[in-house]
Amino acid sequence: ESDVAGDLESVLLSEEQLGRRLDEIAEQIDRDYAGQDLLLVGVLKGAVMVMADLARRLGHPVEMDWMAVSSYGSGTKSSGVVRILKDLDADLTGRNVLIVEDIIDSGLTLSWLLSNLRSRGPASVEIAAMLRKPDAAKTDVDVRYVGFDIPNEFVVGYGLDYAEKYRNLPFVATLAAHVYSV
Ligand code: PRP
Ligand code: MN
Ligand code: MG
Repeated sequence: ESDVAGDLESVLLSEEQLGRRLDEIAEQIDRDYAGQDLLLVGVLKGAVMVMADLARRLGHPVEMDWMAVSSYGSGTKSSGVVRILKDLDADLTGRNVLIVEDIIDSGLTLSWLLSNLRSRGPASVEIAAMLRKPDAAKTDVDVRYVGFDIPNEFVVGYGLDYAEKYRNLPFVATLAAHVYSV
């Protein structure tokens, strides 16, 4: 019905580029957590692709859990006030937690999530994010693993949506202006 290719401007990161970077990050994580407990926490829905692709690259045994959060209130973009739509099943007491995210934009979602998860008594909480926009640097979110820093453009694919579409693209692309300027 709709032609997805016509909605895209250009491919910013190919499937191969994403995969190669994940190989490197997985190797780092295996090293950093060697011999230790590790719980991956994916943030729905955007993180599904990176969670699946990162987790299957790890030699390290991990548990995987999920959280769904939503920016609270009127806003178009994160207000910094976040509502939990689905909480974790796991008890974080004494656990090493690695939050897995698709993108850090303003950083507000993650900075809220960090303090929320840290209040639950974990041994550690770190962040792995596939993409980071320069604006995120404005917040004090300390990210241990970053895939790529990208320009401040609207991107979709590899978990990232525009109005819930394009998440299933295996690459990251910029969206053509005509799609969101109507
Ligand atoms: C997107 C993205 C991150 C967050 C980043 O999620 O997946 O979770 O926004 O934005 P921030 O750094 O400005 O807080 P979204 O709220 O769109 O939900 P989704 O993952 O279900 O698409
Ligand atoms: Mn998200
Ligand atoms: Mg979204």
